[in-house]
Amino acid sequence: MKKTIFIWTASVITGCALFVSCKKENHAVTLTDEAPYLNPAYNYESVNEVLTTNASGQFVANTHTVTNAGASLGRALFYDKKLSDNNMVACASCHKQEFAFADNVSFSNGFNGGQTTRNSMAIVNAITSSGFFWDNRTIKLEDMVLQPIRHQVEMGLTSSDFMVEKLSATSYYPQLFQAAFGTTNITKEEVGSALAQFLYSMFSQNSRADQAGVISASGGGWNTTNSILTVEEQQGASLFQGLECTDCHAGTDVRGWNNGLTWGDVGLDSVYKDNGLGALLSNPAFNGVFKVPSLRNIALTAPYFHDGRYTTLDQVVDHYNSGVMYNANLSMEFLAIDPITRQPLKQAKTLGLTSYQKGCLVAFLKTLTDYNYTDPKFSDPYKNQ
Ligand code: HEC
Ligand code: HEC
Repeated sequence: MKKTIFIWTASVITGCALFVSCKKENHAVTLTDEAPYLNPAYNYESVNEVLTTNASGQFVANTHTVTNAGASLGRALFYDKKLSDNNMVACASCHKQEFAFADNVSFSNGFNGGQTTRNSMAIVNAITSSGFFWDNRTIKLEDMVLQPIRHQVEMGLTSSDFMVEKLSATSYYPQLFQAAFGTTNITKEEVGSALAQFLYSMFSQNSRADQAGVISASGGGWNTTNSILTVEEQQGASLFQGLECTDCHAGTDVRGWNNGLTWGDVGLDSVYKDNGLGALLSNPAFNGVFKVPSLRNIALTAPYFHDGRYTTLDQVVDHYNSGVMYNANLSMEFLAIDPITRQPLKQAKTLGLTSYQKGCLVAFLKTLTDYNYTDPKFSDPYKNQ
């Protein structure tokens, strides 16, 4: 295939106030217009079948359709640094396949050397999630995926016209859009749809906990006795339920009731630096309240919490066991109860777990790993896979 060299002069001008100073800092980027290798044998559409019934035969609302051409295009975009202003960062720079599409640092580097103020989230069964970001601020994935592209720190490509211009100038995107949407006229809505289709296609409920039938769509009634998990893992599953972790991390994706928009304040601080939902709503009654993230693949997606403060699951369990800080919005599951009146106190409780029990909880959390994320159809197509 003929390869053309593009120099993204316009990009460099937009990315920096002074072209000359950019050049001096060696930010002038020359991109090889190398087409991605999108293996036509990869089947993304298989997800459409799983979307109406999950592994336990329960109905999962599916208002989305994934096509092979749409998801393949989404894959090309997900790994393409051209979606950032200066061609330095792709979605995959912060959502890395080897870490189940999370990042392994607390805060990630954006296109221009800035850092994100929150931990890059794992991408886990986005199809069943009814809200995105740590504060659930966006409901529709097709819109959500465009936000990092124009985000000041993340990818900085503030002009969708410029984005379309860059994509249209390549030798391959027009034909990929033609295949996916029947037109070579690229729009930002199509970019959103293709990226969303790629993320929707990353759907799987086949962890050992699924195979053991532990996870139930409801919070209670977990089947914690089975022959697939070890004794420690089964005890961890019982503790997970008994300690009311399932009050929040429930549903088929261990993410909130019926995978709905569930929030919680887990008492990371008595005064939060990042107020989460409180900041979004400018309402102190929600300070410290964040999305309940899915715990699928949790063993792979360290560091943990919205600010990536803990590097191990042992530390997370220690937090819930004895590190919860009281604050006015602390979720009721974490409040100490007055032994006489049985009323909640303005005080965080401790769980008093033994080290064996803490180990069991961690062992159970590790059973939520699902290796679907390693499928080559989700890998970097510019590396010829
Ligand atoms: C510079 C790092 C960075 C880049 C680049 C980036 N993201 Fe993210 N992503 C984040 C961070 C940080 C969050 C959490 C932000 C927040 O809550 O405010 C996030 C959140 C998400 C979520 C929400 C997951 C959930 O369960 O709520 C999705 C989906 C996502 N990103 C997809 C993408 C896509 C698609 C792209 C490319 C168009 C992209 N990201 C580019 C850092 C990044
Ligand atoms: C009141 C709801 C609630 C309860 C109960 C709860 N969690 Fe959480 N959990 C959350 C929220 C909300 C977050 C994200 C908080 C943040 O980052 O500020 C979270 C985060 C986590 C994380 C880190 C996820 C990530 O991607 O970084 C793990 C692991 C976790 N919880 C495990 C547990 C365990 C184990 C229990 C029971 C001991 C439990 N949770 C009880 C709401 C809850």
